[in-house]
Amino acid sequence: MKNRENICTKGKVFIAGAGPGDVKLITIKAKECLEMAQVVLYDNLVNPDLLTYCSPQCELIFVGKKSNNHLIPQHEINALLISFANQGKNVVRLKGGDPFVFGRGAEEALALKENGIPFEIIPGITAGIAAPAYAGIPVTHRHSCSMVTLISGHKAVHKQHDDINWSALAILNSTLVFYMSLSNIRHIVSQLLANGKSANTTAAVIRCGTTLQQQVLIAELDNIAELVLARNFQPPALLVIGQVVDLANELAWFLPDNLNENC
Ligand SMILES: C[S@@+](CC[C@H](N)C(=O)[O-])C[C@H]1O[C@@H](n2cnc3c(N)ncnc32)[C@H](O)[C@@H]1O
Repeated sequence: MKNRENICTKGKVFIAGAGPGDVKLITIKAKECLEMAQVVLYDNLVNPDLLTYCSPQCELIFVGKKSNNHLIPQHEINALLISFANQGKNVVRLKGGDPFVFGRGAEEALALKENGIPFEIIPGITAGIAAPAYAGIPVTHRHSCSMVTLISGHKAVHKQHDDINWSALAILNSTLVFYMSLSNIRHIVSQLLANGKSANTTAAVIRCGTTLQQQVLIAELDNIAELVLARNFQPPALLVIGQVVDLANELAWFLPDNLNENC
């Protein structure tokens, strides 16, 4: 009979979405994974209160990043996931929002697959849908806009050579949701205007959406960048552009007044 202790079994990695910030916007499945995890690697935008679901024995490792400043390079995060799983541990890789929406979840899943590590993806509520909803902005509406486009504003960082098709975006009858857009907001707006987007299209910037620090700024497209810069908005924030933003006048329902810097 084999000695069970000598049988080396691999653990599993759960790449899970933590939701956009409100601690209650996590799925039951992700919560259950946190409860049984032996190791959790978590990001900057994960609400730290979620870690209270973990057992006292669980090893908690912060691997987050702020803007372009990676605390731990991606290849090292991949290596950690592989190493813990090879030790037979159940690992949760907890990411803000949804792991497959601008979350590098696919890169990590591919690294796990290449190394024969079993994994599951647990979707989360992405900030690009949830933060507008908390600001009273539905990203689609049957009578005004039946399309939503999620765009990485970070891609616009190499301003002369960004790979965004601005002329297509400008003419699309779609709500445009730019993630990671604050540092490039002038460039984003000027490209859309230069490619024919109407200057009086309504736009919103939502900072720390779904948290008590949520701030919302609404203006016409040709004014939004200056207002955001004047108010010194800091990440995380989304830029939402389109007719649906007008509905915030009637539908804004989450109006926290407990403002401070960090969400
Ligand atoms: C690296 S992306 C990760 C997105 C995440 N995977 C998701 O699905 O929400 C980080 C960006 O998401 C946006 N973001 C995340 N949480 C946010 C929040 N609570 N309020 C506003 N924007 C948020 C910001 O644009 C931020 O720069």
